[in-house]
Amino acid sequence: MDHHVKDLALADAGKSRIEWADSDMPVLASIRERFATEKPLAGLRVSACLHVTTETANLMRTLKAGGADIVLCASNPLSTQDDVAAALVQHYGIRTYAIKGEDTPTYYAHVDAAIDHKPNITMDDGADVVGRIHAERTEALAGIIGGTEETTTGVIRLRAMDADGALKFPIVSVNDANTKHLFDNRYGTGQSTLDGVIRATNRLLAGRTLVVSGYGWCGRGIAMRADGMGANVIVCEIDPLKALEAVMDGYRVMPAVEAAKVCDIWLTVTGDINVIDSPMFDNLKDGAIIANSGHFNCEINIPHLRAKAVSTREVRPLVEEFVLADGRKVFLLADGRLVNLACAEGHPASVMDMSFANQALAAEYMVANSASLEPGVYPVPADIDAGIAKLKLETMGVKIDALTAEQEQYLASWNEGTV
Ligand SMILES: NC(=O)c1ccc[n+]([C@@H]2O[C@H](COP(=O)([O-])OP(=O)(O)OC[C@H]3O[C@@H](n4cnc5c(N)ncnc54)[C@H](O)[C@@H]3O)[C@@H](O)[C@H]2O)c1
Repeated sequence: MDHHVKDLALADAGKSRIEWADSDMPVLASIRERFATEKPLAGLRVSACLHVTTETANLMRTLKAGGADIVLCASNPLSTQDDVAAALVQHYGIRTYAIKGEDTPTYYAHVDAAIDHKPNITMDDGADVVGRIHAERTEALAGIIGGTEETTTGVIRLRAMDADGALKFPIVSVNDANTKHLFDNRYGTGQSTLDGVIRATNRLLAGRTLVVSGYGWCGRGIAMRADGMGANVIVCEIDPLKALEAVMDGYRVMPAVEAAKVCDIWLTVTGDINVIDSPMFDNLKDGAIIANSGHFNCEINIPHLRAKAVSTREVRPLVEEFVLADGRKVFLLADGRLVNLACAEGHPASVMDMSFANQALAAEYMVANSASLEPGVYPVPADIDAGIAKLKLETMGVKIDALTAEQEQYLASWNEGTV
């Protein structure tokens, strides 16, 4: 099988949406144009494990224009857009293995199909390809020159591998680029997570108490946007600095068990495990909606909730009702999978423009520099990051000032003080 998608008949609809996203991804389009003439990835096999969305399709088109031979699989069982997967196969000639709602064995069969491609470069969102290669598919290590990683949770896993001396090739941490996490994690997750909750439930946010667990880049974005829509936002944190920041940003901060008692909608974005667990379920307000936008659905202890429930049923697509022994109801969205991708379409193209510009340029950087890079996790070079910010501003028609020669000299000097 050289692809595995739901239905190739969806391909035309997918192409139309891919082109729509492309019209808001000018930075990536300019890279694609350059790649088409310079072919920096010529002859290289790339195995990508990313959310199969319209924006990812445009990244795949860019890598292909650069000469790469690509296989793409999903990085989450519920994030695939089936029309996009079909269009990638039918219209863009990219071997794709992804079906929305695939079960765990199928998910890993798809990851294995990507590894069977014998990659020279890996491109992960959550480190599943790299993790599997190191644990079970070590024969693939021989051909790999390096990889890239998209998200916070993936970078944490890779740094843990590196600290254990287990990581066998260099990887660029795309997530650490300023033009990635400051925009994608904050504004992208902020908007698309609420979009997912709203599309799934059609609930009004104004006047509701919305709890955000985790006040990192994603949590800040969600809190900011929910506040803007009139929700009463509560933040739960374990880091005193982040908690203090949330307090000074004007939010109530309290322990999760206390937040549970007043929560109408709860969103987890911590990258941690069992953030909503037994004590929170015991205190949860009747009718509360809970969802996760962190990388893995272990942020909510779903097996425990399932065991506690006297009955469950799907009340709307991707909205599961759990009735507890005392009659309280809890509604879980999308089985705790990334709610912005499972219930909506993931981040808007405009932010993915920068994230995926970083991915494309990180792949080019890896090809040019792999010989001199030891196994480890590397940042996106600062000049690439700054170049993307500059280009993005240009495409937005925003002009900024430049330092004068006098200012440059002043800022570089140490001998001018109080006058
Ligand atoms: N939904 C998406 O499309 C999307 C996009 C980007 C990142 N992510 C994922 O979202 C998660 C968060 O990413 P980030 O960039 O905001 O990370 P981050 O490191 O900036 O923030 C995570 C925050 O969670 C806090 N935290 C950890 N354990 C906690 C607990 N038990 N209770 C409360 N707070 C806790 C940490 O102190 C930290 O402030 C990661 O899993 C990341 O991969 C998802």
